[in-house]
Amino acid sequence: MVNIFFKIGLSAVALLAVLFQVYLKDAIWLGFGIGKTIQPLSDFPYTCRTIADTHPISRSHWMPSVGDFNLTGRSQRDSVVVLDIDKPVENGFQLRVLKTPGYTGTAGDGLLDVAGFAGTDNIEKGTIELLLVNHRPSVDAETGEFLDHSSVGGNSTIDLFETGPDATELKHVHTYANKYIATPNRVAAAGGDSFYITNDHGPHKVGWRHALSPILGTGDVTFCNKAGCKPVAEELKFPNGLAMGPDGLLYVPSSMLGTITVYRILPDNGLEKVDEVFAGYGIDNLAFDKHGDMYIAAFPVGVEIFKAYKDPFNARPPTATLRMRKQDGVYVIDKIIEDAGETLPVATTVLHDAKTGRLFFSSVIAPWISVCEPKN
Ligand SMILES: *[C@@H]1O[C@H](CO)[C@@H](O)[C@H](O)[C@H]1NC(C)=O
Ligand SMILES: *[C@@H]1O[C@H](CO)[C@@H](O)[C@H](O)[C@H]1NC(C)=O
Repeated sequence: MVNIFFKIGLSAVALLAVLFQVYLKDAIWLGFGIGKTIQPLSDFPYTCRTIADTHPISRSHWMPSVGDFNLTGRSQRDSVVVLDIDKPVENGFQLRVLKTPGYTGTAGDGLLDVAGFAGTDNIEKGTIELLLVNHRPSVDAETGEFLDHSSVGGNSTIDLFETGPDATELKHVHTYANKYIATPNRVAAAGGDSFYITNDHGPHKVGWRHALSPILGTGDVTFCNKAGCKPVAEELKFPNGLAMGPDGLLYVPSSMLGTITVYRILPDNGLEKVDEVFAGYGIDNLAFDKHGDMYIAAFPVGVEIFKAYKDPFNARPPTATLRMRKQDGVYVIDKIIEDAGETLPVATTVLHDAKTGRLFFSSVIAPWISVCEPKN
């Protein structure tokens, strides 16, 4: 968001002043953390430690949804890893890297380009279905050569895989490719063969409408099933990691506005806005725990995220986790934990294990995964 602000340059100060008033005031407030007190980790009843390393560098080279198209820097080892949180070992938990034997990748390379996923239990079949946001490169169908990504963008798809509670493999079931799956950020399963995605830059994979998307508000929520896709909420400002609530409502955060919009799902799969909650933080992914409480990965100082994205090993942005739940019929947001950038990685996803009270932090822009245990 705010890096775009700088890209516009100093030559257009007057324009900026207008933009600021009309579009950016809230974003700047959120972006620079103005008016916020960032609390130290020691204020919260948790002890935290690192449990696994990740490889964030490749993200800053190949991330088509946000316009990074350096194919040489694309990750060669993206995979889905299972962290068995019911099986602690030594300092961490049992890890399993799932193989994808039947999956051919792009032009036969077998590679995944994972950006986010959603899982659901298929109770009837006793399986787990994973819907994966897969940011694949574009190739010429005839020659098999890579296309010029700066002009055509990537070829993001949503890939459906099937697995089981103790499985070591992911079975590839279906690839959803559609012009409305353009800049997918995250996916939320909606039952049967259907799902919702946020396109954080809407239909624009490249060009000025892509670059200015968070300001112009060209982001969308799109519904898909095997028959096709259609946008169902448009003119959104950087819609990020949406989630389907256990109450059947769809929750969509805006990183730009610091809000969470709540939608009711209509019989034709369209969306009707029923509520909007101001969180006051730039927001990434939402995740519900077993009790139906929503955990929110939040950025106390939004602009620090861009530094972390480009230099994940040295930047130490502050991070926070919020919780949203309904009390007496209204949504209430509480800060659960915060860190000024000393211990916790800047998380893009926070999961709450309701059974143990543990919080798990993972990130596409930090080099490790951490866990925080509640102090007794
Ligand atoms: C692209 O990625 C490669 C491999 O990581 C790196 O050496 C190169 O500097 C990157 N190019 C740009 C323009 O960032
Ligand atoms: C994108 O992926 C789909 C599904 O695999 C494929 O049919 C299509 O040819 C790809 N398009 C490009 C431009 O790579």
